[in-house]
Amino acid sequence: MVKPSVLVTRRWPAAVEAQLAETYNATFNTSDVPLATPEMRDAMRKYDAVLPTVTDKLNSEVFEVGKPQAKILGNYGVGFSHICERSARDLGMTVTNTPDVLSECTADIAMTLMLMVARRAGEGEREVRDGRWTGWRPTHLVGTKVSGKKLGIIGFGRIGQEMAKRAHHGFGMEILVQNRSTVAPEILAQCNATQVDSVEDLLPQCDFVSLHCPGGSANRHLINSAMLDLMKPDAFLINTARGEVIDEFALTQALMFETIGGAALDVFDGEPRISPELMQCDNLVMLPHLGSATREAREAMGFRVLDNLADFFAGRDPRDRVI
Ligand code: DGY
Repeated sequence: MVKPSVLVTRRWPAAVEAQLAETYNATFNTSDVPLATPEMRDAMRKYDAVLPTVTDKLNSEVFEVGKPQAKILGNYGVGFSHICERSARDLGMTVTNTPDVLSECTADIAMTLMLMVARRAGEGEREVRDGRWTGWRPTHLVGTKVSGKKLGIIGFGRIGQEMAKRAHHGFGMEILVQNRSTVAPEILAQCNATQVDSVEDLLPQCDFVSLHCPGGSANRHLINSAMLDLMKPDAFLINTARGEVIDEFALTQALMFETIGGAALDVFDGEPRISPELMQCDNLVMLPHLGSATREAREAMGFRVLDNLADFFAGRDPRDRVI
């Protein structure tokens, strides 16, 4: 039997690439440089499957290929707001993602960010490395206690739930939840969490707010200046979801005028570009989109794509089909 042809748009963990090479007629982008729109279009025309990832831009232009050879986009990553859903649907393409396997690691990074910003760990590290540390003193880099505080979680999917578990069972935090749909009482009960009706209800009550909702146009600038104004003046905002969920200009203002306590971001609007104004904010911790960046999660994500491809080419509905 002829092996289906697949194109992998970026480098993947070696173990996954080896499995792909064995199972498929696989082409790898060994340069690891993102494909430009014409190259992505060529891929759609030429391969049975294209395996993009969250930093590839699959906007409507990419889908202007007439009748594509590719019938499946096996996305490496859980978020798929970088793929034009309407175009994929119009062309009858199947799109899959890689949920579950990165939830714990992404929640771990959200916890890392929450602790870092509350305890001023970024500022402290910069001070030590710059040789500016003059020694212990009672008033030096005094931060905010995390244990026992109230955490608001916006978006209570798998990652939000993992965050709640860590914060509640590890740090005794009280959990408030805002979610598009009603969360089952038994899920809330796992962390003694309370669901509120709206983001507006949640923000004024919380000491920490962590974003775990999807990105894309529906949630673009969900956290804007009006929402930031609802936060307590000493509250902290954490984002491991998608950069576009926060209006970064409004956030910069809030950080510079200290209308909130601080923020910690793993994702940025237009990343990897970071606005020079954000760079100036000392009460901000920034990481380079590391949510799923563990060997375990990144390998599991790749093998999840392989599972989805296996289903698709065997004529079954892939378990992680999102379109
Ligand atoms: C995703 O999967 O959507 C993350 O942002 C990268 O792991």
